This record gives sequence, structure tokens and C-alpha cells, in this order.
Amino acid sequence: MSNWNHPLSMPNVIPPANIASMTAAMLTEIFSPNIIEGEYAWNVELAELESAVMVARLLGWDPAVAGGLCTFDGSGCYFYGLKYALTRVLGKDSRLTGIRTDGKVLVSQQGHYCKMNSTDWTGLGMNNIVNIETDDKTNCIDIEYLEEVMEELYTVGTPIISIICTMGSTDAFAVDPVKMVRELIEKYPNPTGFGQPFLYCDAFISWAWLCFKSYDIEKNPMQFSPRVKTAIKANMQAVKQMEYADAIGCDFHKVGWSVMKVSKQYWAA
Ligand SMILES: Cc1ncc(COP(=O)(O)O)c(C=O)c1O
Repeated sequence: MSNWNHPLSMPNVIPPANIASMTAAMLTEIFSPNIIEGEYAWNVELAELESAVMVARLLGWDPAVAGGLCTFDGSGCYFYGLKYALTRVLGKDSRLTGIRTDGKVLVSQQGHYCKMNSTDWTGLGMNNIVNIETDDKTNCIDIEYLEEVMEELYTVGTPIISIICTMGSTDAFAVDPVKMVRELIEKYPNPTGFGQPFLYCDAFISWAWLCFKSYDIEKNPMQFSPRVKTAIKANMQAVKQMEYADAIGCDFHKVGWSVMKVSKQYWAA
């Protein structure tokens, strides 16, 4: 087996675990494997609520109306994001009648392949993904191309279910411009009878940069080098734009060992 704790081991985004956390994880699993169920869970449900509030605060969202849940992996968050999107755009009745509209999901061609899992699992269908071309230099979505696609869908009256911003693509760490995407959603609304396109951010890799929002980069109390300071500033400015999203997924298991999907406004999907 791979030794993730080896100092030379740095594959993708798999962090090492320390022995104390391995012991704690094993003990809790043996002591009570049912912690997902509120009645047996003591404060675990409370921890889920509190974590959602912490992430909402990091994003600058009102924690009184935001909500979140822990689920399985990045793909699980993506799946929940799309489920919320479908319910908002097609209406709550779609939960009873099923998905009968070929609404589109617009996402960077470099977005994670779980775009295929989630469109497949929800029954929307993988053919309804529209892959948006990316800029050669930044690897971010080409906003002009995105606008062309949105204008065309708007003209023919095809609803957009969701636009997904990849906030840190798996390899190149390309962060899509959320604010500009929000402006395009306002410019090209869905046809009458459909809810507005849902803006989901796949922030699996990047969410942690939000923590620097409150860091005084000029005083620099942690004494980061000028090179690191530049990176912190650029990444933090890019991920800060997630305040314009409807929901985000953040993957604490890559840089913190657990996953959470947080919505700006919480409602049952
Ligand atoms: C940007 C991004 N989104 C989503 C995922 C999917 O996460 P998971 O493999 O935890 O389902 C990954 C995983 O590497 C990812 O890098």
C-alpha cells in the first residue's frame, strides 16, 4: 500500500493522516457505527449544523438562512447541487412527475468528470451537459463562449438547469469567474415557467483559501514570503467570488478529511 505519510509522497490531493486521528476514527467506528442517525449521534448532528454555519460565514452568507449537509465525497455534493438545481428550475412537482425537460448543465470542459455521474444519476442525462471551452492561458471557462451558448439557449427557449463554476480544477487549479457568470444569469433568464439557473461552485480544492479573507496580508503576522503572499492574495480574491453562488461543495477530505455541501438558502429538495 502507498505510504501517504512519506515525506516524498505528494500525489494529487491525498493528505497524510496522523496516528492520533487514525486511532480516533477507528475507535468511534467500533464504538458506534451509526453516528449518521440523529438519535444515536449525540452531538454529531450539531457538529454538521455548526460546520455549515462556519462555512456560510466564510463565504459571507447569512448563517440564519444558509444550510449545509455532510455527504459522500465530491461527487455526492455535485449530485446534491444538481438535485437542488432541478427542483428550483423545474419546480417541486418534478419530484413527483420526474424529469421531462431537456434543460442544460453548463460546465467547464475541464470540470471534474462527476458532472457525468450527477447528470446520469438524477435522470437528466449526460447528453444535457454543455461543455464550455476554456481559455488557453488560465484554463478558466471562456466567458465569451459561455455568453454565446447562453444567448443561443435563451433565443430558442431552452432552460438552463445549472451553471457550474469549477473553483480549482483538479490539476491546473483553474478558478472560474463566478461574478461574471452571475451577471450573465441575470442577463439571460430562463423562459417563463422555469426557475432561474442555479449557480453551483465545485470548490473541492479551493475552499480553504477563504480562510485568508480575514488575514491581514500587509502586516503578514505569519511571515509568508512575498511569493506566497502573492499567491494567497490572488487565490483568495478568486474564491471570494463564491458569495455570488447559490451553493458550493467543499471537500474537507482533501484538505481536511470530510465533505460538505452548503446552500445560500436552505430548503428541502
Ligand atoms: C475539482 C473536483 N471536483 C470534484 C471531485 C470529486 O470528488 P470525489 O472524488 O471526492 O468524489 C474532485 C476529486 O478529485 C475534484 O478534484
